[in-house]
Amino acid sequence: MTSIVCSLAFPSPSLIWKNRKSSGRTTTMVAISLSHFDGVTMGPPEPIVEVFEAFRAETDPLKLNLAVRSYRTEELEPYVLDVVKKAEKLLLEKGENKEYPPVEGLTAFNKITAELLLGTDHPVIQQEKVATVQSLSGSGAIRLASAFIQGYFPDAHAMIPSPTWVNHKNIFDDAGVPWSEYRYYEPKTVSVDFDGMISDIKAAPDGSFIVLHGCAHNPTGIDPTPQQWEKIADVIQEKKHIPFFDVAYQGLASGNLDIDAWSVRLFVSRGFEVLVAQSYSKNLGLQAERIGALNVVCSSPDAAKRVRSQLKRLSLNLHLYSPLHGARIVETIVGDHTLFNEWKEEMESMVQRIKNVRKRLFDNLSQKDESGKEFSFVLRQNGMFSYMGLNKAQCDYLTNKWHIYVTKDGRITMAGLSLAKCEYLADAIIDSYHNVS
Ligand SMILES: Cc1ncc(COP(=O)(O)O)c(C=O)c1O
Repeated sequence: MTSIVCSLAFPSPSLIWKNRKSSGRTTTMVAISLSHFDGVTMGPPEPIVEVFEAFRAETDPLKLNLAVRSYRTEELEPYVLDVVKKAEKLLLEKGENKEYPPVEGLTAFNKITAELLLGTDHPVIQQEKVATVQSLSGSGAIRLASAFIQGYFPDAHAMIPSPTWVNHKNIFDDAGVPWSEYRYYEPKTVSVDFDGMISDIKAAPDGSFIVLHGCAHNPTGIDPTPQQWEKIADVIQEKKHIPFFDVAYQGLASGNLDIDAWSVRLFVSRGFEVLVAQSYSKNLGLQAERIGALNVVCSSPDAAKRVRSQLKRLSLNLHLYSPLHGARIVETIVGDHTLFNEWKEEMESMVQRIKNVRKRLFDNLSQKDESGKEFSFVLRQNGMFSYMGLNKAQCDYLTNKWHIYVTKDGRITMAGLSLAKCEYLADAIIDSYHNVS
């Protein structure tokens, strides 16, 4: 005997028929799928989140997380800058309201951020040739720039370094900006593959947007030398490319805001029109506040005015307004002589801690290694991250045998390492160099 049981909830795209047999009776179940989103597939896993989850589940007391993306103290704890705490106290005392800010962000913040990048009194600022718009941190600035490129340069494509910060590809993909890679890293010498980089930039179609890390390249920690920057500028000029700087670590490479903006300033001083994405996630430790800016340096005030108006329009479409709190923190610190100096000192001490760790790791590696390998690259690298020339199998070995967690591209967060842990890391790295190929 056959009976039909029908369960209907609400209209839906799919009917599912199932026959079930029990005690000689066949029951046909008609289930109607409940979701309009049945066609939505699972998104890909986030590799870094998987590393963090594995680290959390790790029970060995020696475990070490060198995949972290933010600065840590010598005790390996997250760090809120003292100067940020002071600025927040002042803001609380002032009791400012939470009304919507202007679409382009706070006027004082925009002025300050362009000055930090280009230097106070820079002629392009005085001549009003810079269009600055507040953004959802560095990622938001890159997303906004991508929307701008997609809208106004439909035939252009972006060139990104290989390797680069993992989100560059995703953001360009999402915005519909085609991209390709230029060679950047030479694993044998753990240095910039300068010839590869120059020849790939030369081979790109004229008018490409060339993504450059202003300083402290993520993930390698390897930056071009000043002479190499000059040559990069020559080729970009020759090919009529448009430089697009990603400045996520200003001040955290050398400890000095001006030195770390040198590459951007070089291009601006040579008369380039440039795009610059800026972030305060790392140098002020404001990761969660999502504060940054997109600056477009134009060749005329009129162009800057038009570009700004379009960036405002695009921001409105993407997310309406940008968060206020981070902008007010930056404005309060940089706008006050004493607090600004305190920030610079604090940033210097953060950089000094990272440099001390690099030196200790270099000493440990050099003393322990018996193969005559050269480790001076550790000292030459800049900023929070470091490539050690480790391949994926060696990274897995670090994790499985030594309980050290790193991203699978072999990036090690120097800002997440303490002096006390350097020797342990050196032993693990040497072991993996020797025992895993
Ligand atoms: C090179 C680079 N660009 C941009 C960002 C964006 O960070 P945020 O959106 O927090 O400013 C990062 C963060 O790690 C980065 O390393």
